[in-house]
Order: sequence, then structure tokens, then C-alpha cells
Amino acid sequence: MWAFFAILLLHVLSHGVHSEDARPQSPIMLAKSGGFEIGGKTVSSPASPNRTLSCDHGYMEYFIPWRPRKTSLVMWHSSSSQVWQNRWDGGEGYKDMFLRRNYPVYLWDGPRVGRANWPCVPMNYTPYYGDRLNFISWNFGPSYMNWWPDVQFPTQDNYAWQQATSARYVEIDTTENVELHSDAASIAADSGKIGDNIVYLTNSAGGLRAQMTAVKANNTNIKGIVAYESIGYVFPDNVNITARRGGFGPYVVPLEQFKKLAKLSAIQFVWGDHRDESWDYVRQSRLAAKLINQYGGNATVLKLRDDAGLKGNTHIPFADLGNAKVGALLDTFLEENGLDEYAYDSK
Ligand SMILES: *[C@@H]1O[C@H](CO)[C@@H](O)[C@H](O)[C@H]1NC(C)=O
Ligand SMILES: *[C@@H]1O[C@H](CO)[C@@H](O)[C@H](O)[C@H]1NC(C)=O
Ligand SMILES: *[C@@H]1O[C@H](CO)[C@@H](O)[C@H](O)[C@H]1NC(C)=O
Ligand SMILES: *[C@@H]1O[C@H](CO)[C@@H](O)[C@H](O)[C@H]1NC(C)=O
Repeated sequence: MWAFFAILLLHVLSHGVHSEDARPQSPIMLAKSGGFEIGGKTVSSPASPNRTLSCDHGYMEYFIPWRPRKTSLVMWHSSSSQVWQNRWDGGEGYKDMFLRRNYPVYLWDGPRVGRANWPCVPMNYTPYYGDRLNFISWNFGPSYMNWWPDVQFPTQDNYAWQQATSARYVEIDTTENVELHSDAASIAADSGKIGDNIVYLTNSAGGLRAQMTAVKANNTNIKGIVAYESIGYVFPDNVNITARRGGFGPYVVPLEQFKKLAKLSAIQFVWGDHRDESWDYVRQSRLAAKLINQYGGNATVLKLRDDAGLKGNTHIPFADLGNAKVGALLDTFLEENGLDEYAYDSK
């Protein structure tokens, strides 16, 4: 009898040890998972037309819950699908968080990056010693190893930092790459292979690529974009914006094409902490939202500190220690926009 209680007590205690990570969790039940290539082209060798290369396609990995909701969440970072998978301390990332809530989850690698790295053209790789740049670009602090005091990162955990900075792939921030990514993604969107109720969750330069995807797609499968710290916006050609192209925009498209963005039922541009209103990209996000709304759309800018009281979020809030709270805001957004329905009780 006492042995039984002792074992029970041990069991409780050993669970207590892990309680930091314990939360009421429903299991992840999948109907299926898999992946496919999409877009791209086949080119012939200059030496022999019989020797071909299939290249410049994108790669989509998917996880479909047993009883799925209607909205497909397509997770898109310009150079790391890993950031969607885990929190900085290894805890639960958006992928599992939203699979538990029965959303179909897709992880996208655009042409030439990640698991789609078979380019049609010669590529050069020159190491650019980017650890310092990663620290600053991902807004862990104002300068290298100088963390924001309230940052949602396990700053004492060198392993976590090593994981974070190694999570990035070579990122190709050129006009050509933005076009290639949005070409392949728009074909994927129109194909029906990722459902007819798509919401892109993007980070960083992925935001510009997703906006261009909505501009290029021809049917109504894309419903929304939630862009975390989007670096790059798309504008119509009637507002005197000077296009800068490259990997970070601004991109200027004919008004008729811009109106396709305004057709999406919900767009949200989300900012982490320590992003001043005067910063060019914050200003661009406000102007882009205003123009989208002017043409009948529904875009908002959400600053996690000012509007939601969440402090210390980085460039990648969905991987931050406080990502459950950021995820709760996404839940609300999906709900408010009627994007949380289940696939088969919608009648
Ligand atoms: C290409 O293939 C065709 C048909 O198999 C063959 O007749 C031709 O000789 C090949 N050409 C080259 C350059 O290998
Ligand atoms: C959408 O239609 C335009 C005009 O026909 C075409 O150029 C473009 O390739 C189409 N987009 C996709 C993703 O098929
Ligand atoms: C457009 O912007 C340019 C550069 O910012 C400025 O010089 C020009 O006057 C503007 N034109 C109009 C019609 O507002
Ligand atoms: C616009 O978006 C907001 C915030 O996501 C949402 O609450 C609202 O219902 C949307 N409005 C329409 C007309 O769809």
C-alpha cells in the first residue's frame, strides 16, 4: 500500500519536474502527412537537348488532421521552415500548436531554398559570416549579444542561441527570387492541392512573397495573410510609390492587380516589440493596410506591445517564449474572420 503511494508520489513529482512544459494538451491526430513539389520548369542542357533538368520548383510539406478545419495554414519564412516548428527553448511551435487545434498545416520552401534547392541556373555561395546579423535582424537586441531586457528568448541558454542562428538557410533576397517564389506559390494556391481556404502565415521577407502570390493567383482560394514582421509591401501604381524591388520592396503593381489583395477577406500585419512607428517598414505596413482597405479589403496592423500588451517579442514572435499568447491572438483573428470553421459542419 505505502509502496503504491510512494510510486504515485514519485510519478506526481517526476511530472512536476516537467511541469514548465506541461499544458493541457489534446493529441495531434493526423489523417495523413506528406509533401510535393510544385511549379518550376524543365530546361535542356546546352550540350544536348536530350539531357534535361527539372528545377526551380517549390516544396510543400503537409500535415492534415483527422478532423480538419477548413482553413489551411501555410507557414512561410523566406529562409527557415524550422522557425515554425519549435519555440526557441525547444518547446511547442506554431506547427504543433495549430495541428492540435485541427488546422491543416503546410510548411513551404520556395524555389532554390531549403528542400527545393535545385536551381535552373548556376549559383554561387559565399559565406557572409551572418551570426551577428541574425541576432540583430531577428531583433533579439539592439546589438550583438546585447539582449533586450525583456526579450522573450532564453538568453542564458547558449544552446538555444546556437539553434536559432543555425536554423536559417541561405536566403536569396533578389527580385528574381521573390518572383520565382510567388510564381510557384501562386500555382500551388490555384491548384487546389492546398485547399480552397488558404491563410498564409509569413515571417520577414516571406510577407512580400505572399502578397505577390495573392497578386498573381487567379482564383479565390487565398483568404488571408497574417504577416509577422513583414519586410516588404506591395503598392498600387496610382499612389506615387517608388518601387525598390529587390528582396524587400516596395513592389509596385498595376492597380487592377493590387485589387486582388483587397479581395482577401483578412490581412493582418503583426509587429513584435521594439519597432518604432517611424521605422520605414512599420510606416509601409500602415500605408499598405490603408490602401488595401481603401479598395474594399480588410487589413489591420497589430503591434504586439502597444495593441495587445505583449512585451519583448522578437522578429519571430511565433517562436518566442510567449508564443502561446501570440497564438491566442491568431485564434481570435481566425475566429473573427470566420476562418475557424470545421470542414464538415459548415452547412
Ligand atoms: C536525342 O534522342 C533522340 C531520340 O532518342 C536521338 O535520336 C538523338 O540522337 C538524341 N540526340 C542526342 C544529341 O543525344
Ligand atoms: C493568372 O492569369 C494570368 C493572365 O492570364 C497569367 O499570366 C498567370 O500566369 C495566371 N496565374 C497563375 C498562377 O496561373
Ligand atoms: C512623386 O514622388 C516624387 C518623389 O518622392 C516627387 O518628386 C513627385 O513630386 C511626386 N509626384 C506626385 C504627383 O506627387
Ligand atoms: C475585418 O477584420 C477584423 C479583424 O480581423 C474582423 O474582426 C472583422 O470581422 C473583419 N471585417 C469584415 C467585414 O470581414
